[in-house]
Amino acid sequence: MNRGLETAARALAGARRVAVVSGAGISAESGVPTFREKGGLWEQVRIEDVATPEALHRNPRKVWEFYEDRRRNMQAVQPNPGHHAIAEMENVFAEVITITQNIDGLHQRAGSTQVLELHGSLWKAHCLRACGVKRDPFPYPAPELPPRCECGDILRPSVVLFGDLLPPGAMERASQAAADCDVCLVVGTSGAVWPAAGIPLVACQAGRTTIEVNPADTEISGELDLCLRGPAGTVLPALLSRTRELIS
Ligand code: OAD
Repeated sequence: MNRGLETAARALAGARRVAVVSGAGISAESGVPTFREKGGLWEQVRIEDVATPEALHRNPRKVWEFYEDRRRNMQAVQPNPGHHAIAEMENVFAEVITITQNIDGLHQRAGSTQVLELHGSLWKAHCLRACGVKRDPFPYPAPELPPRCECGDILRPSVVLFGDLLPPGAMERASQAAADCDVCLVVGTSGAVWPAAGIPLVACQAGRTTIEVNPADTEISGELDLCLRGPAGTVLPALLSRTRELIS
């Protein structure tokens, strides 16, 4: 047995509260492209054309076409064994909170019930004007591009664009969960985007056990206690299985 995996399983076997911080890598094995790897999404489109508030105001149709394309792709994919292992953890530990940067909804589709979506969701929309209308869910396909609110203004995808604030209270709740957990699992994120990258560091500072699951080194690997190198869809089921053996 891999020594890192055994050490991680022993830490988890003694845990009551687990915080999972996930990024695009957890969905890679479902066929969702990541952002910063070779061939990733940000090599194919320019952030400033499709993922900023300025782009949305300049050309809402173009921004919506980008997100509608992602909605179409993500509707067709399924959660993978990594998502399922995280969902299953809710039956093993007293408390599991999944803090995700992903907007694909795959954690929820796998059965996770405590999911904090730091960067919003592709399946929600809200009015650009402050009329307060929220469309949850906002099913695919949108009736028109850009879709309109009843007030006549444009609806926007409820995702965090570069330059937007995170959803109110999300960072506070995520940081609290990281500070309060026994083990923080950091899965499939490059740790390149702030403030999300700071959440595992809150767990480090609070003296919690931090475990990275990622095939590659990340910007925060050096800060974490253990790094399990491999794809989440293989490592997480193995980790959960060994943890269960140790608990029983
Ligand atoms: P990145 O594309 O920056 O990083 C993906 C990470 O997943 C890398 O560290 C890969 O090594 C890892 N990875 C790839 N395949 C994996 C697998 N099978 N199992 C586990 N890990 C794997 O994606 P994020 O860190 O999620 O924000 O990016 C953070 C944010 O940047 C996104 O939420 C998005 C993006 O710009 C916004 O759009 C606001």
